[in-house]
Amino acid sequence: LVSGDEVKALIHWFHQYAIDYPWGDNPTPYRVWISEIMLQQTVVSAAIEHFIQWMKLFPDIMTLARADEQAVLKAWEGLGYYSRARNIHKGARYITDSHSGIIPGSYDELIKIPGIGDYTARAILSLAFSQAFPVLDANVRRIGQRLLALREWQVRDDKRLLIQLESLIPHDSPGVFNCALMQLGQILCRVRSPECSLCPLSKSCQTRTLGLQGEIPAAKKR
Ligand code: ADE
Repeated sequence: LVSGDEVKALIHWFHQYAIDYPWGDNPTPYRVWISEIMLQQTVVSAAIEHFIQWMKLFPDIMTLARADEQAVLKAWEGLGYYSRARNIHKGARYITDSHSGIIPGSYDELIKIPGIGDYTARAILSLAFSQAFPVLDANVRRIGQRLLALREWQVRDDKRLLIQLESLIPHDSPGVFNCALMQLGQILCRVRSPECSLCPLSKSCQTRTLGLQGEIPAAKKR
């Protein structure tokens, strides 16, 4: 997919140019969990404000588990998809009851928690526990699609990309690698007008080699 030197260049790019988000500086399992759920289906700017406020109201899992649902839903106001907030609340109670209030560091235990699926489990394991699990969000998928110059993205391509990322993810900094890819997708490898001249992965990118940036990914049919 890409060379080891490019992975190093990607990490270097991240340290130099990436945006500092409030959840990035102290990535505890709790903070990663809440921020990653907030970031699903939400613009980043809304997630930032809500995240800061949330951590003031519910600084830890015990406080969250004891809060009443109305207070939790109120803190979620503006983010939409309120089932996410209800699941977080249920999840906090589950973690309190089943894990003494401590978020477990294993994939199989994490996906039993209400509201935590494959993506969120991988994010928590890599960003908070430094375990070598790649993540696949819309940004990482688009980067994979462009690196491989695939005009269509099929369900089985998820598995294929994950396997390739598993062989690339640095075991000493898996969280940084995942954040770097997500931010590369937000900052340079955007859906429209990607900035290939600044991209640390441009040498291996088939889409750039073929000059197909305007066609991959294909515009959504409407
Ligand atoms: N989108 C989802 N999770 C993210 C993260 N940890 N950093 C940047 N963008 C994200």
